[in-house]
Amino acid sequence: MTERRDFDCAAAEWDEKPRRVKLAQDIADAISVALPLSRTWNAMDFGCGTGLVTLSLAPHLGSILGIDSSGKMVERLNAKAVEQGCTNARGERLDLERGELPDGRYHLITSSMTMHHIPDIVPLLSALRSLLQPGGRVALADLETEDGSFHEDLTGVFHHGFNREQFTDLLSRAGFSDISISTVTDVIKSERSYPVFLATATAS
Ligand SMILES: C[S@@+](CC[C@H](N)C(=O)[O-])C[C@H]1O[C@@H](n2cnc3c(N)ncnc32)[C@H](O)[C@@H]1O
Repeated sequence: MTERRDFDCAAAEWDEKPRRVKLAQDIADAISVALPLSRTWNAMDFGCGTGLVTLSLAPHLGSILGIDSSGKMVERLNAKAVEQGCTNARGERLDLERGELPDGRYHLITSSMTMHHIPDIVPLLSALRSLLQPGGRVALADLETEDGSFHEDLTGVFHHGFNREQFTDLLSRAGFSDISISTVTDVIKSERSYPVFLATATAS
């Protein structure tokens, strides 16, 4: 397998880039618009990082568990939850690609900017589906197809974004239906615009 990125090194300074914070807020806002979030829902945020999306969604949900393979990212999320007095969000270090699954079953699973770091998408999406309640939803945001210039360091980057047909096919092969994909924001970097999509789908 190609080398994975070490996100532990990035955790302490992750929130210092304003464009990252804005992107996460745009994605959290787009999820709130796309789905009827409920305080009766238990959610999971896959590849939560420092919890930028996790903590933005928490006030609209019953609970949200952030999971991330980077222990340092999860530590930041948990420290921020305490600082912000957020009692219904927490993080856990788990690597879904290695079959490490949380115990719960969720009404909603979100993810922001993580799928392009996953080499083999269908098994991962199938694992997410297995963690959903019957009829549970996913809301997955990532880069639309780009030319490889988005990341300065390509370590652990397995996809240069996704096109809609391709991502629809991946979701469908993993057992999702009711698939909807739209552009929700973009990242401006080195004077270039990189569109970001949000895919929503239902566990069949
Ligand atoms: C680009 S960061 C995005 C972080 C956050 N969602 C955000 O929008 O700020 C990707 C995150 O996915 C996590 N990740 C990558 N592969 C993973 C896996 N197999 N299981 C759990 N987390 C993973 C990384 O550790 C990293 O924190």
